[in-house]
Amino acid sequence: MNQLLVNMVRDREMEDNEKTSRHEASDAAALVLAAGKGTRMHSPLPKVLHQLLDKPMLWYILETLDRIFASRQILVAGHGYEQVKQSMVSRKLELVYQSQQLGTGHALQEAWPAVKESGLEWLLVINGDTPLVSAEHLCTLLEHLKNQDADMGFITLSMPDPGSYGRVLRQAGGEPLAIIEAKDFDPATHGHDVYEVNSGIYAFKTLSLQRILFQLDADNAQKEFYITQLVSLAAREGMRVTAVNAGDCPELLGINTPGELLRQEERIRAAIVDKHIEKGVYIRTKDSVRIGAGVQIGPGAEVTGPAEIYGRTRLASGCRIASNCYIQDSFIGEAHVFSFSHIEKSVIGDKTKIGPFARLRPGAEVHEKAAVGNFVEIKNSSVGSGSKINHLSYIGDTWIGRSANVGAGTITCNYDGREKHRTTIGDGVFVGSNTALVAPVCLHKNSMVGAGSTITRDVSEGSLSIARARQKNLEGKNPLKNLKDSNKA
Ligand code: UD1
Ligand code: CA
Repeated sequence: MNQLLVNMVRDREMEDNEKTSRHEASDAAALVLAAGKGTRMHSPLPKVLHQLLDKPMLWYILETLDRIFASRQILVAGHGYEQVKQSMVSRKLELVYQSQQLGTGHALQEAWPAVKESGLEWLLVINGDTPLVSAEHLCTLLEHLKNQDADMGFITLSMPDPGSYGRVLRQAGGEPLAIIEAKDFDPATHGHDVYEVNSGIYAFKTLSLQRILFQLDADNAQKEFYITQLVSLAAREGMRVTAVNAGDCPELLGINTPGELLRQEERIRAAIVDKHIEKGVYIRTKDSVRIGAGVQIGPGAEVTGPAEIYGRTRLASGCRIASNCYIQDSFIGEAHVFSFSHIEKSVIGDKTKIGPFARLRPGAEVHEKAAVGNFVEIKNSSVGSGSKINHLSYIGDTWIGRSANVGAGTITCNYDGREKHRTTIGDGVFVGSNTALVAPVCLHKNSMVGAGSTITRDVSEGSLSIARARQKNLEGKNPLKNLKDSNKA
C-alpha cells in the first residue's frame, strides 16, 4: 500500500474504547460448549459457525471472554471440528475434541483434564449458542458465586412460555434444587407454574465440580449426560448452589433455529447502529443498515440505508456513503461514495468520488481528489491523486499517476490466459475512449492515446499514439443511396 494512504489509515485509527475497558476475572477459566450438531438449524455448517452479521456466532462469545479473561479459554468442539478449528486459528484458545456428542455434561467431562490443568479456582461454562451474553452477565455471576461462597451457580431467565428450556426448581427457601429439561418435565410431578428457566451459563468452584462431575448419568428422556443434572447432584451433596435471575433478558436466549438466529442478529444489528448514532454518525433509514461489530466510523460521517458495512472497515469523519453500498475491510477517507458501489479491501482517500455503480475489488487504492465513476471496476491498482476514470472501465494490476484521464470504455488487458501483467499510466496521461491497453505496457508521463486504440507497445513521454485502422471516406459510394436512386429511375 502506498505510504500516503498508510499514514491516512493510521491517523484515522480510532480508539476502540470497549476493548480497553476490561473486567478482571484472572482467577477463572472459561469453557464454551460448541460440539453439538445443531440439528434444528437445517444446515451442514456447525451451528456455532453460523453468521450474525459478518461474524460467526462463536466470535461474539470469544470477544466477550477476551474482555474479561487474562487466563484460560477452552472450547469444546465436535461436530464439524476441523471447520471450527480452522476458524479459530488466530485465537489463543485451547480446543478439546468431543468425538461423540453425548450431551452437555459429557462435553464438560471431556474438557475436565484441561480445566484441571489450568489450576484456576473458578470455572465459567457457557453454551456456544448464546452469543449475546455480555461481560457484565458473566462477571455478575462470578461475583455472586464468590460473595456467597457457593460451589455452583447459574443464570436463570423468567419466561411465560418456557418452551424447550430447562425448568428451574427451587426449594422452599429459594435455593435451586434441580433443573428439569423440557422433555423430562412433568407438571404433575414438578409443578404447574414453573416459569424460571436455565440460560445455559454456569459458574463452578473447580474443586467442588470435581466431586460431582463424574456422577452424571444418562437416565433421562434423551439418554444424554446433561450438565444441568449437576444442580441436583450438588444439592444432594449438600453443596451451596446459587442462581441469579436475569428476568426477561432476550440477550440470553439461545440460538437453535434459523428464526432464533435472525432474531438475535437483529438485536445485535440494532444495538451496533444505535451505538454509532450515539457517537455522532448520521445513519439514515437505520433499520436497513447492517454494520459489523469490528467497523469503526468517525463522528459526522453519513451512511444512508440500505447498506452493508463489514469487517475491519474504517470510515472517516466527513465521509458520505449513499444508499445501497456494500463495503468490506476498507478504509474510506472524507470521500463521497455514491449509490450501488461495492468496495472490498480497498483504500479510498479524501475528496474522492466513487460511483454510482463502482466496483472496487481487493487492492484498489484511490488517492485524494480522484474520481471513479459508474460501471468502473478496479482491482489491485492505484489511482493517483486527481486522476479520473469516470465511465465503463476495467482497470486491473495498474498504476496510474496524478491527474491522468482514463476515457470511457478503457480496458486494461492484464491477463494473457496464463499470467497477469501490469499496466503503467503516468502523470497527466490522457487515454481516449474505448482503448485497450495490452499489458505489460507503459504510457509515459503526459502522453496521449487516441480513442479506439489497441495499445501493445509503450508510449514515450509527451507523445501521441493512435493504433486503429485509418478511416476511409468513399465519395458517393453509399450503397443504399445508390439503390434508392435506381428505384426512382
Ligand atoms: C440447554 C440446557 C437447557 C437450557 C438451554 C439454554 C442442557 C441439557 N440443557 O438446552 O437447560 O435451558 O440450553 O439455552 O444442557 N453441546 C456440546 N456437546 C454435546 C451437546 C451439546 O458441546 O454433546 C453444546 C452445543 O453445541 C450448544 C450447547 O452445548 O452450544 C447447548 O446444547 P443444546 O443442544 O443447544 O442445548 P439446549 O437443548 O438448548
Ligand atoms: Ca441451545
